[in-house]
Amino acid sequence: MSRKKERTPVLTGKKALIVGIANDNSIAYGCAKAFNELGADLAITYLNEKAKPHVEPLVAGLNTQIFAPLDVSRPGELEDLFQRIRKEWGHLDILVHSIASAKKEDIKGNLVDCSADGSALATDIAVHSFIRMACWRRR
Ligand SMILES: NC(=O)c1ccc[n+]([C@@H]2O[C@H](COP(=O)([O-])OP(=O)(O)OC[C@H]3O[C@@H](n4cnc5c(N)ncnc54)[C@H](O)[C@@H]3O)[C@@H](O)[C@H]2O)c1
Repeated sequence: MSRKKERTPVLTGKKALIVGIANDNSIAYGCAKAFNELGADLAITYLNEKAKPHVEPLVAGLNTQIFAPLDVSRPGELEDLFQRIRKEWGHLDILVHSIASAKKEDIKGNLVDCSADGSALATDIAVHSFIRMACWRRR
């Protein structure tokens, strides 16, 4: 009788940081579940204390080794997170950056109606924070 060979999940031992879970509809939550099934070790962030109780039960059933706050617009929070990742893991294999935000008044009208301040804020959160995360080793 032939026995099926057990396969080690393809991401076993890989270190994955996932930023952008707000609720069970978040794209980042789908990524977290998929990476978890594939064997990765997870670092997962929540926006702030208000968001934490919504995110915590979702990630409790996953292989979450680091669970930390991250608001990229708060000075020092990104640096604190990466310092912890450096200390506890030493390196990262996977980064999921799935965040965006804008002021309500800036998403009511057409694109050209967005204020310069609002555009800068949205770009900082959705774009510049990715550069800061992707280049974390240089810090
Ligand atoms: N859902 C879609 O159809 C769709 C389509 C195209 C692009 N996207 C993009 O995918 C990403 C995720 O969207 P989603 O649908 O999962 O929405 P979502 O609301 O679940 O995710 C957005 C996340 O951004 C986080 N966030 C906002 N401001 C932040 C800050 N200052 N610091 C850290 N985190 C912050 C929120 O906490 C939330 O977890 C966004 O960038 C969105 O623009 C979504």
